[in-house]
Amino acid sequence: SSLVEQQVDPFSLVADELSLIGNRLRETVQVVGVPKLASAAGYFFEVGVEGKRFRPTVLLLMASALNMSLPGSALDTAKADQLRASQQRVAEITEMIHVASLLHDDVLDDADTRRGVPSLNTLMGNKVSVLAGDFLLCRACVTLSTIKHFEVSEALGTAAENLIAGEMMQTASTSEKHYNMDQYMQKTYYKTASLIANSCKAVALLADHENEVVMLAYNYGRNLGLAYQLIDDVLDFTGTSASLGKGSLSDIRHGIITAPVLFATEEFPELQAVINRGFDDPANVDRALEYLQKSRGIQRAKELAIEHANMAASAIDSFPKSDDDNVRISRQALVELTRMVITRTK
Ligand code: FPP
Ligand code: MG
Ligand code: MG
Repeated sequence: SSLVEQQVDPFSLVADELSLIGNRLRETVQVVGVPKLASAAGYFFEVGVEGKRFRPTVLLLMASALNMSLPGSALDTAKADQLRASQQRVAEITEMIHVASLLHDDVLDDADTRRGVPSLNTLMGNKVSVLAGDFLLCRACVTLSTIKHFEVSEALGTAAENLIAGEMMQTASTSEKHYNMDQYMQKTYYKTASLIANSCKAVALLADHENEVVMLAYNYGRNLGLAYQLIDDVLDFTGTSASLGKGSLSDIRHGIITAPVLFATEEFPELQAVINRGFDDPANVDRALEYLQKSRGIQRAKELAIEHANMAASAIDSFPKSDDDNVRISRQALVELTRMVITRTK
């Protein structure tokens, strides 16, 4: 059987390049020349607390999946290296924007821990965390400027802006009386899917693909991100087991209404009155969970996640044909990620 039939591990395919990117992220925060700011901004780039690096992995695989010679433009080695370098920069920028948003998020959520270690706000306080997040965002802008590509700048700038809009929509949703599935999906796109969608788009733009292919890359990221967040919202109720109430219940306790509850409300409109009372009272949380238990809310949220994961996989299948083994393995890995996102239990 050929190489491409074998199982692929998306993360190990790009392991070497991921470690280069890790080095660059650790270096880039040093430019500021203020040691305390550099160590704060670099906190989540340190070895051991770098996280899964899900976004850089997707972006490097996307770069390889679209690495094919286009009609009328043979790529010499120097140009190919330059392209790959700029796509790596997109992965770095995306990670910087992501970590900036996490530093701010932990301030907003008053979080004690992240990635199994004390959150930065716990260690250094809210003020330093806000400044470190701001600094990372600006570092991302400077790196973005070195790519010198107007549409790439626009895509990544829009993604950063969407993160903030998504966070604001989530804040507003806790007091919104008729929060619905459309608003939830919009919020979810902004808060989770836009960054990976727009950075996938950026990787395709850099490779000079035609608009149709750029949109397929974007749609892969968008649908992967939506599927990821839908499962995240299910896991908040179920945790690692399949049964309700085993999760942290952190969303509902904070008054954040997600897909499972919205689907349950479609089945049991009486649930709306429970939601409207707010979830400061734990008894009200229990009441909502009872409705959720007898509804198909969890199941429907999972089904919607699977639908989006399938749409992501079909975007990859629609890429222009290629016989290159590396291109095909990378596409297979991107499809594998859509499967991993919906089967994950943590
Ligand atoms: C995690 O959500 C937070 C985000 C995905 C983004 C939040 C965005 C901001 C705080 C706006 C600031 C943005 C920038 C670019 C500086 P969560 O709290 O639901 O999940 P988690 O805490 O469990 O990871
Ligand atoms: Mg949080
Ligand atoms: Mg938050």
